[in-house]
Amino acid sequence: MAEEKKWTVSQQELEQQAVFSEKVFAINQGFYQVHGRQRLAYVKSYGCQQNVSDGEKIKGILASMGYGFTEQKEQADLILYNTCAIRENAEDRVFGNVGALKHLKRRNPELLIGLCGCMMQQSHIAQRLKKSYPYVDLVFGTHVVHQLPENLYQTLTAHKRVFNIPDSDGVIVEDLPIRRDGSLKAWIPIMYGCNNFCTYCIVPYVRGRERSREPEKILKEVQTLIAQGYREITLLGQNVNSYGKGLQTPIDFAELLEKINALEGEFRIRFMTSHPKDATKKLIDTIARCEKVCNHIHLPVQSGSSHILKQMNRHYNREQYLELVNYAKQTIPNLSLTSDIIVGFPGETLQDFEDTISLIETVQYDSLFTFIYSKRVGTKAAEMEDPTTDEQKSERFQRLLAVQKEIGIERYQAYVGKTVRVLVEGAGKTGEDYMTGRTDNYIIVDFPADSSLLGQFVDVKITKALNWALLGEIVK
Ligand code: SAH
Ligand code: SF4
Ligand code: F3S
Repeated sequence: MAEEKKWTVSQQELEQQAVFSEKVFAINQGFYQVHGRQRLAYVKSYGCQQNVSDGEKIKGILASMGYGFTEQKEQADLILYNTCAIRENAEDRVFGNVGALKHLKRRNPELLIGLCGCMMQQSHIAQRLKKSYPYVDLVFGTHVVHQLPENLYQTLTAHKRVFNIPDSDGVIVEDLPIRRDGSLKAWIPIMYGCNNFCTYCIVPYVRGRERSREPEKILKEVQTLIAQGYREITLLGQNVNSYGKGLQTPIDFAELLEKINALEGEFRIRFMTSHPKDATKKLIDTIARCEKVCNHIHLPVQSGSSHILKQMNRHYNREQYLELVNYAKQTIPNLSLTSDIIVGFPGETLQDFEDTISLIETVQYDSLFTFIYSKRVGTKAAEMEDPTTDEQKSERFQRLLAVQKEIGIERYQAYVGKTVRVLVEGAGKTGEDYMTGRTDNYIIVDFPADSSLLGQFVDVKITKALNWALLGEIVK
């Protein structure tokens, strides 16, 4: 049996879910007749775009069962938090928010409270919810989003708590209903899960094994979105550079990019995240050649010290990373690089940290996502000696921010006088008559314009650099 078959959910199971979906729909119709209004759901996704994308599917499934949506928790009949487990503060925030729902539930005992997403895949979290949060009605994991109709039916009818968190390598479910958050920019997962087991990271434990979608499915989804007026497609995966492994169709990420680039229409292609260990020269050449693919690579380095990179199980060292960056800079005109950095990984010495500073000074990133290391239960790094104090870590973190700020200002300043292409995305922050958008390499640009240009690509001449954006004027 081909490996890809392994991820498929049976037709029978999907049909079963369709039956439950109709049942919940009927219950919600009954509600409408009694109360004269639709049942409303409040759905909030935390974490990365993968979670946001799951959240869009959850909202799609809810909409097909007759739910409407609200941004006000007080108005909701169903509150669902789609959680992230990447760092401790992300988890603390969720517990805080769930705790705050207690009084809503007391006021409205009919309110359903649900939790899903990455945090739920950890057994200690599920245990804690079971024991200490009795007013949480529904908990489901990352591998059973498609079973939401059945779980919701159980919650609505049996009046008992439902915990559905199977341990699984994961599934690929195509053609789920989807309710996208935007009408110009869309997220498309091209793969799920992760096999890399970076020693600090929880994702491989909560998202299952790496698995790729069939290229035909992806291409069809992009085509549909372009026909609907979407102008920017972001391809998602924890490591898009290993796309295609295990598929019957021989294909890699560069070839997928090439195929999407060849589709008709005016649109941009972005992707995230690229793991440096799997970024090939072929990929970089492809980015340079494909005019729809943005000249921006988010290439998380995590640390500038080869010793720490080894401890992190990243499978590249400082020299290899810099060589890759050099090749990319030479090959892709106006390349913008961004990165993720972890400060204070267990055993990081001052010298290791200095190596990180010197690396970011060498590479000159447009921006950075910086994190202080957070211990995750069950990961390898959680067992490592960590003699550095929180205070030392926080000092290093502040220094990193300061160094990057300088670099960012200089990089932005260099745009003054240049003309950049921008997708007009919405109202600008600079003033009433301003619109805003992003350049190909992800920098925010504000410029005087009216909303009639929404969704169009315009050329903007940059007149001024702020520390968070560029200002400019449309050139006719
Ligand atoms: N798959 C992506 C990253 C996903 S998580 C990649 O490999 O680049 C996003 C970022 O969160 C990571 O790049 C890392 O910088 C950070 N991160 C992950 N685990 C962390 C932890 N335990 N503590 C602090 N930051 C962490
Ligand atoms: Fe986490 Fe590493 Fe996988 Fe990224 S590649 S999700 S950092 S284990
Ligand atoms: Fe968080 Fe899960 Fe993404 S842990 S970063 S939401 S894959």
